[in-house]
Amino acid sequence: MEEALNGGQLASDGKYSAQAQVLLEAALDAPRVLLTTSCSDALEMCALLLDLQPGDEVIVPSFAFVTVAGAFALRGARIVFADIRPDTLNINEEKLAELITPRTRALVVVHYAGVACEMEAIQALAAHHRIAVIEDLAHGPFATYRGRPLGSFGALACLSFHETKNFSCGEGGALIVNDPTLRRRAGIVHQKGTDRNRFLAGEVDKYTWRDLGGSFAPADLLAAFLVGQLEARQTIQARRARIWQRYDQGLRDWATAEGVSRPTVPTHCEPAWHAYYLVMPNRAARDGLIAFLKAQGILAVFHYAPLHLSAMGRRHGGQPGACPVTERIASCLVRLPFFTVLSASDQDEVIRAVTAYAIAP
Ligand SMILES: Cc1ncc(COP(=O)(O)O)c(C=O)c1O
Repeated sequence: MEEALNGGQLASDGKYSAQAQVLLEAALDAPRVLLTTSCSDALEMCALLLDLQPGDEVIVPSFAFVTVAGAFALRGARIVFADIRPDTLNINEEKLAELITPRTRALVVVHYAGVACEMEAIQALAAHHRIAVIEDLAHGPFATYRGRPLGSFGALACLSFHETKNFSCGEGGALIVNDPTLRRRAGIVHQKGTDRNRFLAGEVDKYTWRDLGGSFAPADLLAAFLVGQLEARQTIQARRARIWQRYDQGLRDWATAEGVSRPTVPTHCEPAWHAYYLVMPNRAARDGLIAFLKAQGILAVFHYAPLHLSAMGRRHGGQPGACPVTERIASCLVRLPFFTVLSASDQDEVIRAVTAYAIAP
């Protein structure tokens, strides 16, 4: 960051943005990566690139972050909410066909907690109906599905570098452009709707307004911070893997005895070790555990408020009972403290506190 400060370019598209993009392209086997100011902005870029028109439909999991739906609603699309699988908490690929209509343009998949969605089935269905797949990789950088990196399956994929994610620059993100037919426009949308990239390459003597776009590129100062994180990715992921496995071992017996579910990781998925969560038998047990931990100074949180039941979700046709697995999981899930520098002794304290919690019969 000091180098970036002294280098004279604080704005976007400097040396460190280029470094971060090249590093991500190599590590994720991605043909083109564009840094963005957030994952939400990368999702908004997807909506622009798909040229969504009012009335077009986009399928999203209801068990997801707000902007997974909001970015597409912003372009006038109707959001169609999909339910999740009860094991990985990822979009249920077996329930997707019934949501597809002639207006369906895109399908957004979230690799929850860094474990892959069932990409084989999802891609086959999307190809059959000519629907674009967009991967939300906010939780899943460097995870794999059947040995292939996540982010390499969809036409587009979105990363987050928000401070809550495995790799951070405070606020940040990236768009992976796999579909070669979208690559040129992605550069224009990224550059405020202009052909500034051609100007920077010396191909034109001034840049002009060509398309819809936004100010999506982050300051190079932030990219410098991010490069440091990405260069340490093996250390960061290895630490997170150890924390995840320690929780899983430490909580196994207690969870079995209390009827609590631990995360499912299919053998063909190498996770990104983004989060560790428990699914409690009911809402009262979940809320009780959060309060029990809070009383001991331990912050544990739930995830996500179902999108189809939100005020906006209801305007898109969401109604109670439409996504029953999402509704149950949202009321029973608790995430335990999980961050790269979580010490073994702090983690032991969390494990001790959780295993001292007895669920009321
Ligand atoms: C699955 C998912 N997608 C997207 C986002 C948005 O990321 P950002 O804060 O970088 O916009 C989040 C944020 O937590 C998320 O959990």
